[in-house]
Amino acid sequence: MNQFSLKDRIILITGASSGIGRSCSVECSRSGAHLILIARNEEELQKTVSMLTPGTRTETIIADITNAENLEELIADKVSILGKISGFIHCAGIEKTLPLKKHTAQIYTDIFAVNVISGFEIAKILSLKKYKNETSSFVFISSVAGVVGEIGKAAYSASKGAVVSGARSLAMELSRSGIRVNSVSPAMVHTPILEKMFENIGEDAAGEILKKHPLGIGQPEDVANACIFLLSEASKWITGSNLVVDGGYSAH
Ligand SMILES: NC(=O)c1ccc[n+]([C@@H]2O[C@H](COP(=O)([O-])OP(=O)(O)OC[C@H]3O[C@@H](n4cnc5c(N)ncnc54)[C@H](OP(=O)(O)O)[C@@H]3O)[C@@H](O)[C@H]2O)c1
Repeated sequence: MNQFSLKDRIILITGASSGIGRSCSVECSRSGAHLILIARNEEELQKTVSMLTPGTRTETIIADITNAENLEELIADKVSILGKISGFIHCAGIEKTLPLKKHTAQIYTDIFAVNVISGFEIAKILSLKKYKNETSSFVFISSVAGVVGEIGKAAYSASKGAVVSGARSLAMELSRSGIRVNSVSPAMVHTPILEKMFENIGEDAAGEILKKHPLGIGQPEDVANACIFLLSEASKWITGSNLVVDGGYSAH
């Protein structure tokens, strides 16, 4: 048996319309999973669906995860179609790089709503017996910014640190329900979020960041492969961990 296979598992992925979430969707389908994909942009989400391995059973939910009171209902509907869920990747995230003097309380609120709260709220739903398989694995995408300081990232870093520590507590609480919980902390990965950040900070600062990655900037599939490991039986003794996937960035 291939311990890394996700054959016939049902995996729910947020942020599936772009970047790392899109790559997680593609790689999970390649590993045999069937998928429930969530994002706001329907056109981009359909583009992800068109990239999946033929035969992948896929359901989509078009929703703002920070503002969807009926999210449980929407998920319940998809579970009734595909079956109970045995994996969750929270990839949805937003980033802002701004000097501290430009940070406002609203910026912290907005970032925490997507990066932290909605992920943990979905985990709450997926930990209910009626939606979960006997065993399950939750993966939260954090960032090296959660553990390494970076200029202009107070709100973003705080949210990513919260993801790591919250996931660790969930791991303790949910182990008796057969659910493993881990986070993954990437450094810079080629995605739209990165391009936007580089536009904001300018060429010199971007060049400095690039220099700090001994293995260069990552590709979305580098993160997706780590997620597949954490969802699969190959990681059945791993919970409460934060897997750093950063091309050597935090080894400095
Ligand atoms: N790229 C990097 O260098 C890097 C490094 C470290 C960590 N990360 C983390 O990795 C995750 C994915 O990043 P990425 O680079 O793939 O970003 P991205 O390409 O900008 O994708 C972000 C995803 O989040 C979804 N999203 C944002 N707000 C949402 C909301 N309110 N409701 C539903 N979906 C929402 C977007 O979908 P819609 O717009 O369609 O809703 C999109 O699919 C994030 O948590 C990010 O912080 C990225």
